[in-house]
Amino acid sequence: MELSKITAQEAAAMIHNGEHIGLSGFTPAGAPKRVTHALSERAAKEHAEGRPFKVNIYTGASTGQSCDGDMSNAEAIGFRAPYTTNSDFRRHVNNGEIAYHDMNLSNMATQLRQGNLGKVDWAIIEVSDIDIVGDKAQLYLTAGVGISPTVCRMAEKGIFLEYNLHHVGKMRGLHDIYEIEYHPHRTPVNIIGPMDRIGKPYVEVPVEKIKGVIECDIPDEARSFTDPSPVTDAIGQNVADFLYHNMRDGLIPKSFLNIQSGVGSTANAVLGAMGSNKEIPDFGIYTEVLQNAAVDLLLSGRVTGASACSLTVTDEALQKIYANPEFFRTHLVLRPSEISNNPEVIARIGVCAMNTAIEADIYGHVNSTKISGTKMMNGIGGSADFTNNAYLSIFSCGSTTKNGAISSIVPFCTHIDHTSHFIDAVITEYGVADLRGIGDMERARRLIAIAHPDYRPLLNDYLKLAEKYGGEVHHILSAAFAMHDTFRRKGDMRLTDWSEYIKD
Ligand code: COA
Repeated sequence: MELSKITAQEAAAMIHNGEHIGLSGFTPAGAPKRVTHALSERAAKEHAEGRPFKVNIYTGASTGQSCDGDMSNAEAIGFRAPYTTNSDFRRHVNNGEIAYHDMNLSNMATQLRQGNLGKVDWAIIEVSDIDIVGDKAQLYLTAGVGISPTVCRMAEKGIFLEYNLHHVGKMRGLHDIYEIEYHPHRTPVNIIGPMDRIGKPYVEVPVEKIKGVIECDIPDEARSFTDPSPVTDAIGQNVADFLYHNMRDGLIPKSFLNIQSGVGSTANAVLGAMGSNKEIPDFGIYTEVLQNAAVDLLLSGRVTGASACSLTVTDEALQKIYANPEFFRTHLVLRPSEISNNPEVIARIGVCAMNTAIEADIYGHVNSTKISGTKMMNGIGGSADFTNNAYLSIFSCGSTTKNGAISSIVPFCTHIDHTSHFIDAVITEYGVADLRGIGDMERARRLIAIAHPDYRPLLNDYLKLAEKYGGEVHHILSAAFAMHDTFRRKGDMRLTDWSEYIKD
């Protein structure tokens, strides 16, 4: 059976205003690039001719510029879920132009199956190889899996394949494709270690569903990482010391835990620091996004095996994987996001979750998603999937940002994604606030102790002034956001004057 080759423009022409499209990939890794770009060109043309044209986009996580960036600039996105990191998209969401539903990434495929997001009309899937076996096509994905199996199965109008020559023949054997059943017939996800395989190396679809193949040769639109800094090095060292002391004290097993490492430059640097700490034994990774640092740790043997949903790496790091295909087939598994982030598996196999915060408050709540409680940054991603189910949950962040004008430790988070119930420790370059087994006021003291020295007196003053209002935790409601408000008005949280905010 022959698959028909079409252009991205021909694919875009088959898609109608208001339709729902599911995309492959997870982060820019494995996201389609051609048809989404053609959709933005189509939207610009339709709008110029006075016709409406917006589609709704479902993904595993973020995508790259040719989807989230170009499409949002072309006003081609009506609704989008569940995660994105693109700065153009962020601007359009924060201007109120796109309806954005942030959600836990483990839950996206389930939400689609339950029909909570409406139907899926089309799937656009980036592939590295296609085998036709009878009336079935076996699709070998590329660097990210995300919700591909679910949207391929659910797509009512058909599937477009972006056959990306950049990856041809290099991805076979890296994926483990398994889709969870519908409720109430779910069975346990039978994974007890990062390298366990429970599915097939490809996504299988009926050939008749494939409406066209678009050939391309484009690397992923990955962002580069900022180099480790003295701050990220110190955070990494503090995380590594904390884990070592927990192991020495028998609080985590001697055989260690599987590590989940979050997204961004801080997370990349933390994992690198852990790998170079000789006191930490070799470890496995059960995570959602594999970043550059993990590739080198796999090659050096520090990481014994890694389960992830995507290779969110620079092209240079991807080439290291392609240069060692046999090694990586036995040391790396790429899974759908509902498996890489599966709460039941995470809770069972023993994971140390290490995510990054925008801000943490003095009682140990964490904001991962909204700057000043209003401006969407990226989304919650898988941070709650891991944090809420991990054996040990850590958040780290630099103690300040914007040249010291913003403290990451604040009296009250302006938005809370992770409540203190799920967080064992918060770590900055100034140390570790171990939050286990203590009362709330001691938490406040420990969290202030890891704030930047410029902010410790300010935070201690807040705590002292708040004492007279009593309660199990102490707050001054009229001043809880005074540091944020001072930054808004004066450009520097250090200029906070509590007396301006205390009303009685
Ligand atoms: N107030 C205002 N801006 C802040 C801020 C704060 N409290 N904290 C960080 N920022 C800004 C930084 O200044 C920086 O801005 P810039 O891009 O203009 O330089 C930006 O946010 C990113 O901060 P950075 O310190 O470089 O963070 P990072 O790259 O380590 O990423 C998160 C941190 C929280 C944004 C990122 O980890 C994230 O998106 N997390 C949510 C999803 C997640 O955890 N996924 C992992 C699951 S497996």
